[in-house]
Amino acid sequence: MDKFVIQGGKKLKGKVVISGSKNAALALMPATLLASGRYHFRNIPELRDVITMGKLLQMMGVDVERNGHELQMNTFRVNKFEAPYEQVKKMRASIYVLGPLIARYSYAKVSLPGGCAWGPRPVNLHIEGIRKLGAHIDIEEGYIIAKAKRLKAAKIHFDVSSVGATGNIMMAAVLAKGTTRITNAAMEPEIVALGNFLVKMGARIGGIGTAKLEIEGVDQLHPADETMIPDRIEAGTFLVAAAITGGTVTIEHCEPSHLTSILSKLKEAGATLQIGDTWVTISMPKSIKPVNVTTEIYPGFPTDMQAQWLSLMSIAKGSATITDSIYYDRFKHVPELTRLGANIVLNKNSAIVHGVKKLTGAKVMSTDLRASASLVLSGLVAEGKTEVLRVYHLDRGYEAIEKKLLALGAKIKRVSGQEF
Ligand code: UD1
Repeated sequence: MDKFVIQGGKKLKGKVVISGSKNAALALMPATLLASGRYHFRNIPELRDVITMGKLLQMMGVDVERNGHELQMNTFRVNKFEAPYEQVKKMRASIYVLGPLIARYSYAKVSLPGGCAWGPRPVNLHIEGIRKLGAHIDIEEGYIIAKAKRLKAAKIHFDVSSVGATGNIMMAAVLAKGTTRITNAAMEPEIVALGNFLVKMGARIGGIGTAKLEIEGVDQLHPADETMIPDRIEAGTFLVAAAITGGTVTIEHCEPSHLTSILSKLKEAGATLQIGDTWVTISMPKSIKPVNVTTEIYPGFPTDMQAQWLSLMSIAKGSATITDSIYYDRFKHVPELTRLGANIVLNKNSAIVHGVKKLTGAKVMSTDLRASASLVLSGLVAEGKTEVLRVYHLDRGYEAIEKKLLALGAKIKRVSGQEF
């Protein structure tokens, strides 16, 4: 297992190119199961989760060939309709194969994902939605076993807005008979990207980007090519990295319209921003002002940026309250940030952060992807040496993060191959 060793105190300066969206890639890759043929994806991020999704699809008979940021996929020989526990437990997004498999192959056997580092993450909405589309579903030995002839359109209302369930049901409904109506659908840019891609494949979907989707099922789809949208969470993380170090950084190849809630909070915190069509320049000239945040569904402040915001607020001039309304237990980073000198009090799903003058380097443990990002951010400003252990979590979702930070002037190195 690798670790990062960071010497804090360097102001970040320069330009950083944002990679393609992990969560868009994880949704679009399984969508290829919906039509046999060749697909070509561009701007695919080089990440462990993308490799995991590729392996899962290979197990089903998909040819997956990667060349840097390009991915060629061929779905002519799909012959296995199963996502085994060993793969799903590595990455919950594996559940995305459920919708396409049942829609196209009338059968799917997909392991239930179980809990995750920050508590329970149910998949009931995925299961209920597929059931409503007419599939017969049994839960046996930890697996969802779905069977159907042709799926039939339905009215589906999600009590909770869910990215994954919206994506899965969309992928199932595009081949169902009749018009499916989804209300309280997720509006996240990654779901918009999936909807647009499905339309390119011949699907008929109205209301993409709104909470009401109307999907008129078609008999057949065809392959299509796509370029992944920029990763808004990677972009947000680098914006906070610049802010926390008091630096000046331009993030390039991003989509500023996907970053509005993050940018407005950064502005409130005292950042100076210049916003272009595909870039943002940020500088944090003075001390950081305390800014409360409550995570919301898109276009609200993303839960995937909550940990990073906590890091930023830990050295703000005053106190801020950060509430996660999406995942109530997503605070595994708090004890680790406390080891770096942060003053954080947890109260249910809120963290009250009392800004301190300085953080001090220590050994800290990564627990999940975004928690790990917050530890790196805090390490960048902590006095002395911070060691972030188990950075494989970061490799799941940030492409070459240490190289990008190094190029911005951070003192960070990866130490490989030891037991940490
Ligand atoms: C996706 C993102 C993840 C992000 C999350 C919320 C991917 C691969 N992952 O995860 O990075 O943190 O959106 O923006 O895109 N829920 C249910 N029942 C369900 C499904 C979800 O109650 O069947 C609840 C969850 O517990 C949570 C809320 O819905 O409170 C939102 O979760 P959801 O949007 O489904 O997250 P994911 O798709 O798993």
